[in-house]
Amino acid sequence: MAKKKYLIITFGCQMNKADSERIERIMQVFGYQKTSDEKEADFFIINACSVRQSAIDRVYSKIKDLKNKNKKAKIILTGCILKKDRENFLKDKNVDFIFSINSLKNWQEFIKEKRRYFWQEKDIKDCKYLEIEPEYSNNFSALIPISFGCNNFCTYCAVPYTRGKLILRDWRKIVKEAEKLVNLGFKEIWLLGQNVNDYNFKIKGNKIPDKFKKIIKNKVIDFATLLAIINDIKGDFWIRFTSPHPENFSEKLIKKIAKSQKITPYLNLPLQSGDDEILRRMNRHYKAKDYEKLVQKIRFYFKKYRKGIEKDPSLSTDIIVGFPGESEKQFQNTVKLFKKIKFDMAYIAKYSQRPGTIASKFKDDVLSQEKERRYKILQDLLNKIAKERNKRFLNKKVEVLVEEVKKENNFFWCYGKTRHFKSLKFKSNENLQGKIVNVKIIKADSFGLLGKLL
Ligand code: SAH
Ligand code: SF4
Ligand code: F3S
Repeated sequence: MAKKKYLIITFGCQMNKADSERIERIMQVFGYQKTSDEKEADFFIINACSVRQSAIDRVYSKIKDLKNKNKKAKIILTGCILKKDRENFLKDKNVDFIFSINSLKNWQEFIKEKRRYFWQEKDIKDCKYLEIEPEYSNNFSALIPISFGCNNFCTYCAVPYTRGKLILRDWRKIVKEAEKLVNLGFKEIWLLGQNVNDYNFKIKGNKIPDKFKKIIKNKVIDFATLLAIINDIKGDFWIRFTSPHPENFSEKLIKKIAKSQKITPYLNLPLQSGDDEILRRMNRHYKAKDYEKLVQKIRFYFKKYRKGIEKDPSLSTDIIVGFPGESEKQFQNTVKLFKKIKFDMAYIAKYSQRPGTIASKFKDDVLSQEKERRYKILQDLLNKIAKERNKRFLNKKVEVLVEEVKKENNFFWCYGKTRHFKSLKFKSNENLQGKIVNVKIIKADSFGLLGKLL
């Protein structure tokens, strides 16, 4: 009998991408075959995101679209879905199954039993499904989840409800996965967590292997120690991580990051707002001044411990405009801080009320046109600042990891990211996908660099 075919559609952040790599593997273990043709799939697996209403709206329209194209295929919904949306999806005849990601190993059983809904609501004691060997999407850059869920409860955010409480992955499993990948020749490792600097793994018993005894001073592995261990793995590779939280970002951690040369000079440090009152109502536990001081420290230690262009790391952020009650003056505080810090990149979002969150009790009173106006102001500012900031790379030699190539006549366009996480393209006679090469920057725009292969 021909194998049944599946197609995974992933929405949302790198966490969901990492989860999809595990779904991929499990489906193959179950005996299904991957397809990229929507018409011939027997199963569509939609890995959903709920961070904003627009993300979940896209899931609804994708379901419709898929059913129009392929009526016989079954749809399995998973990922980050709030309770209210799960209830709505259950009413939708187009949705065949809804399963939580942490029950991944049991999906086949559920499908056979025709069990339409299984959601592991309780906090799982560990993140066992993360130990399913992922089907990495390429052989040079890998995502490694270090934790699952989040305890922060920022008032606007759906994640603590969709993913539940923070659960830490065992440090040994993280390190083993990293070692394995480096040995396989991977060039880039992304450590993933909703709040990576919350990592704090308590070692039980006397289980510290000798080779780590120099780094592990006490029986707690915090994020700085985890980074030190991974930075110590022999090999030529880059370390990236996302995302840290501006609260509890200790000087020890900053120093460790700046001193660990494999860690790339790129940090996504979500600010959310530059106004203290809004930050308080977002439950962010820091003030604008604290954030500013933190950035100063990060820049100080990079200057101290790095060489050349690495002395000036690139800094990106996340910002929400139009949080309930955000006045023009409060928005202007964000604008001021934005100008002062000079971000290389910013992911700017218009506030979207999420059912069940604390902020859903606040009146969503900033009109959508006003949110749009504020969004545009910051976006325009970002374009200008990013262009200005990117000039520092002109005529400089940088390393780039080539992620994609497109053949054109007798040469290849190579697309990749620099260590500063800048998108870059250059021409080459060879297909350099998956390689780290040296390039000289000859043109710098707001969000892209043009290079010449050296
Ligand atoms: N764990 C990360 C981010 C998680 S969600 C952190 O703490 O920063 C990714 C980004 O989506 C957030 O940083 C925030 O800027 C945005 N976001 C989250 N909830 C939102 C909401 N309700 N409306 C608009 N943007 C939101
Ligand atoms: Fe959401 Fe805040 Fe947790 Fe980030 S830290 S995932 S914004 S609750
Ligand atoms: Fe990520 Fe969206 Fe879930 S941003 S953690 S996929 S709600």
